[in-house]
Amino acid sequence: VQNADPEPRSLSLGGHVGFDSLPDQLVSKSVTQGFSFNILCVGETGIGKSTLMNTLFNTTFETEEASHHEECVRLRPQTYDLQESNVQLKLTIVDAVGFGDQINKDESYRPIVDYIDAQFENYLQEELKIRRSLFDYHDTRIHVCLYFITPTGHSLKSLDLVTMKKLDSKVNIIPIIAKADTISKSELHKFKIKIMGELVSNGVQIYQFPTDDEAVAEINAVMNAHLPFAVVGSTEEVKVGNKLVRARQYPWGVVQVENENHCDFVKLREMLIRVNMEDLREQTHSRHYELYRRCKLEEMGFQDSDGDSQPFSLQETYEAKRKEFLSELQRKEEEMRQMFVNKVKETELELKEKERELQEKFEHLKRIHQEEKRKVEEKRRELEEETSAFNCRKAAMEALQSQALHATSQQPLRKDKDKKK
Ligand code: GTP
Ligand code: MG
Repeated sequence: VQNADPEPRSLSLGGHVGFDSLPDQLVSKSVTQGFSFNILCVGETGIGKSTLMNTLFNTTFETEEASHHEECVRLRPQTYDLQESNVQLKLTIVDAVGFGDQINKDESYRPIVDYIDAQFENYLQEELKIRRSLFDYHDTRIHVCLYFITPTGHSLKSLDLVTMKKLDSKVNIIPIIAKADTISKSELHKFKIKIMGELVSNGVQIYQFPTDDEAVAEINAVMNAHLPFAVVGSTEEVKVGNKLVRARQYPWGVVQVENENHCDFVKLREMLIRVNMEDLREQTHSRHYELYRRCKLEEMGFQDSDGDSQPFSLQETYEAKRKEFLSELQRKEEEMRQMFVNKVKETELELKEKERELQEKFEHLKRIHQEEKRKVEEKRRELEEETSAFNCRKAAMEALQSQALHATSQQPLRKDKDKKK
């Protein structure tokens, strides 16, 4: 009997074989394939989302301003092809347009959650296809959500807390304090502590820069302590010394975007783009997407093991689901048939009732008609009687008249005779 799982033995190589080039092969493959990175910007209208994106990627993404009159929050994705040296990046920036502008903000988070889920669903559907083309699939899953906090210096709004809480199991959230030039240094420090305290006490999980990779552990640990980053965005260039730098010029001075004493913009760019972009992509796939996929598949009835921890069988689950589906179909069919029969019966009854009513109406009318007829007959008889009585009287009158006429015509003759005599 062969051992199914023998212990691997360590062997030393006699010379150079070449599999130490595997990492290089991986890099070369990834570079040809290109990368995709998707950023979701959530923050109220005019908080500086577009400006920050332009500043981060040092380019101008042409985006129109949002109005303050959106009926509900709407997600607007825009994809750009960028290239730096020989690396291609398909960057999608998704704006939550109209966020915070509605009077009733109870459902503000929903379109955002739905959008994130829809991207997971698209990926899952691609994975479940018989012919998958994940290699050249445009992955639209959101890798990071930049949550723009209004620089009130006060505390987080409940809308911020609710939205971040709803999103934290679905996406890597990096909270940032926007327009940080509008808040003083000491206030900013207190504001940061306040925000972190509120996030912790409300159980909101924000993205932590990973500290398990030695190469970046130290810098990431330091940066984790700086969260939320207070950023300033600007696409304007101002001359400082003899250099042109991106900055915001005020009557009292210049705020330099890339000056670490002025704001955390550089920290954000380093962490988001240069150090942790791959970790954000990886976390999206292995944590957030995995969770979505697991819940979705469990909802569909798939399980890794049943109650007696039998190994999961796709075939069995499929068969069970199929049976369940068929019986459900049968039940529905039966229900519909029954409904149809009932409907027919009901209609039949209604029709019968109508018929009876009509018959009654007809009888009633018939009776009225007969009654009328009888009355008319009677009238006719009376009239006939009257007519015959009248005729009798007329005849008698005529007879009398003719008699009288006769009598008057004889009288003068006799007088004439008398005169002759
Ligand atoms: P919508 O897309 O319309 O929601 O706006 P947005 O969030 O993209 O804001 P946008 O970048 O268009 O900036 C709105 C205004 O804020 C512009 O006048 C910017 O110049 C200004 N602004 C952007 N960033 C900053 C900043 O860091 N500090 C200050 N003080 N103003 C800023
Ligand atoms: Mg904008």
